[in-house]
Amino acid sequence: MDQVGAETGVEGSAERRPAPFTLVIFGASGDLMRRKLVPALYSLDKKGLLPERFALVGVARRPMGDEAFKSGLQEGLRQFAADGDAVWNRLGKQVSYFQGNYSDRGSFEGLVALLERVEREQGIGGNRLFYLATPPEAYATIAELLGAVGLGGDWKGGYSRIVVEKPFGRDLATARELNARMQRVFREEQIFRIDHYLGKETVQNILVFRLANGIFEPLWNRQYVDHVQISIAEDIGLEGRGLYYEESGALRDMMQNHLLQLLSLVAMEPPASFDTNAVRDEKVKLLHAIRPLEGQALRENVIRGQYVAGRVGGKAVPGYREESGVAPDSQTETYMAMKLHIDNWRWAGVPFYVRTGKRLGKRSTEVDVVFRPAPHSAFRNTGAGVLEANHLVLHIQPDEGIGLRFGAKQPGPAIKIQEVDMSFSYGSFQAQRPEAYERLLLEAALGDSTLFTRRDEVEAAWALVTPILEAWGRTDTPEGVAGGSVGNRDVPLCPYPAGSWGPAEADALLERDGRQWRKP
Ligand code: BG6
Repeated sequence: MDQVGAETGVEGSAERRPAPFTLVIFGASGDLMRRKLVPALYSLDKKGLLPERFALVGVARRPMGDEAFKSGLQEGLRQFAADGDAVWNRLGKQVSYFQGNYSDRGSFEGLVALLERVEREQGIGGNRLFYLATPPEAYATIAELLGAVGLGGDWKGGYSRIVVEKPFGRDLATARELNARMQRVFREEQIFRIDHYLGKETVQNILVFRLANGIFEPLWNRQYVDHVQISIAEDIGLEGRGLYYEESGALRDMMQNHLLQLLSLVAMEPPASFDTNAVRDEKVKLLHAIRPLEGQALRENVIRGQYVAGRVGGKAVPGYREESGVAPDSQTETYMAMKLHIDNWRWAGVPFYVRTGKRLGKRSTEVDVVFRPAPHSAFRNTGAGVLEANHLVLHIQPDEGIGLRFGAKQPGPAIKIQEVDMSFSYGSFQAQRPEAYERLLLEAALGDSTLFTRRDEVEAAWALVTPILEAWGRTDTPEGVAGGSVGNRDVPLCPYPAGSWGPAEADALLERDGRQWRKP
């Protein structure tokens, strides 16, 4: 498809511009700030989506003056954008740094004084957006201390909101505890739990595709769908995050959050409106309808793997256990695949195969909806061969788009059927697609939680995956968090060469049902 047709709804930027606010980022000397948050602010500012009256306060433990902090940000911006300096001339005037200890009440009292001064000087009023980009162990304490010094949910001088990065807990118990502690200070509608996949345009388009078109939703059920595959494949390895990943693994890093979010959007019931809670209610209902995996079913339907040395993109790469920060006998999974069932009216009997892994052949996130074949072949006496299933593939990233695969008659005297593709590429939109963080920061500043995960949603996802952590012996002990060497060695940890498509056992999971993974 070459042309994008008429717009059916215009999102005027003026009405999406938030009211004046101060953004307070905890963990401001870290990686996320430099790689994602500063570029997001840059883009918002460039598009006129930051209010005139706006201030940024960076909080971190490192001793640093305002000027050093500012020049670090400016440097980052220069690397990221050619016209970084022009944007900086405006933004730079509104930036301050605050050195603080995340568990010291005195630091938070100092922050109150700074905020009051900044708000007065810039004429901002009292809207405050706190962003936690710190190590997750600090989240609850920061929220509590914000509450203790009057910066929490009861603040009357404007709004007070808190944005929290993943991981939100390490299992069901810790997620519940974190939720409970945060909710003693902030009401649910003031808490914005980030899953950056929800900020991606193509992820948002899953619901638009399903619900804005009359032709697909009638097919979106057990009568027409044979099975669904969802894959988040990465070609990258650990990118210097060995210590984090050892304790996390693919299940905590990708499955509990990003992959289950994709599954919810693909499989949920249509909400009556695009209202925040209407959407999230349906996602939660879907998560609750996924059949829990336990005992034998868990052993048979969940595969974990770990990469060994191989080649990615023509380059030799080391195995996981040779990476820096990784134990030589690590039991951490870098790949996992599962077969899930959704026990509801729409999906009874339709398997959902999901997988995610690092160091796979190619970066590719896709949803493949595989339809049942035509019920009867009128061509059976023509030598046309077996009729193939139709596939609808949502290409989430990269090469964002949608493809529909169907059979067509090959030109010639005989009836010969060939599989062909009808495809739509996001590239055909002239407009630039905003980065996930840009969109999410904007939504938090606007106070719209639709693209953030609600308490019960996070807990439902953890409820589903915690039995898997337990079966793998990867839950934390009273002595500490489960590191790489910890694990139940009776559960196979299947090796796969870097650059391949995962372990043979994951292929067998589908072959057992007479199916195959789609090759991205
Ligand atoms: C993060 C994970 O949440 O998502 C990373 O911690 C992963 O391990 C990343 O690489 C993938 O995000 P994206 O947007 O590149 O698909």
